[in-house]
Amino acid sequence: MANLTIRQARTNDAQSMAEILREIGWSERRNSMPLEEVSSPIEELIEHCNKDPKGHTMIVAVDEDEEVIGFTTVHWVPFVMLGSWEGYVSDVFVSPSASGKGAGSALIKYVMAEGERRGCMRLMLTNGKEKPSYEMGFYKKMGWTERPKVANFVYYYSEPWS
Ligand SMILES: CC(C)(COP(=O)(O)OP(=O)(O)OC[C@H]1O[C@@H](n2cnc3c(N)ncnc32)[C@H](O)[C@@H]1OP(=O)(O)O)[C@@H](O)C(=O)NCCC(=O)NCCS
Repeated sequence: MANLTIRQARTNDAQSMAEILREIGWSERRNSMPLEEVSSPIEELIEHCNKDPKGHTMIVAVDEDEEVIGFTTVHWVPFVMLGSWEGYVSDVFVSPSASGKGAGSALIKYVMAEGERRGCMRLMLTNGKEKPSYEMGFYKKMGWTERPKVANFVYYYSEPWS
């Protein structure tokens, strides 16, 4: 996409980020809540990440009209077993109306360059196997490897969104 910019997220991007999540529509609960209830915790997360830039990087992709069309968050994790750092990518979302124009790749490439700059050993993320991004090989095309021997475990404190 011409004039695509990647920049640090700002607290006033929270509403656009909430709208992107609703457009993607993975959660009926999120889509039926007032927008403010979705965006308010996002605003707090942006603030948290921006206060601790050594620990977190939250970035947005912005189009030629200054509209936020996608976002990504990465957490820089000190990893004793690696004797190094792992970047855990927790969000990769692009508005369906802007999809297929390079924003998602640009966000991931930014994270890959930032991890290298920080001297990280590796990046890690989860990708739903039933999602189009997995089926279309979004991460594999960018050189990521699917780990055949690793199971992904989670422990929930509350009901997941989707
Ligand atoms: C996956 C996602 C981030 C891709 O962003 P994007 O801006 O559409 O991607 P790009 O334009 O950079 O396209 C790069 C590759 O992504 C894939 N892609 C393109 N459109 C896609 C779509 N609508 N859905 C999934 N993958 C798509 C293609 O493989 C494409 O490669 P190609 O150019 O060789 O055909 C975006 O579709 C999205 O937010 N999906 C919903 C959330 C999600 O699944 N996130 C990732 C898992 S956590």
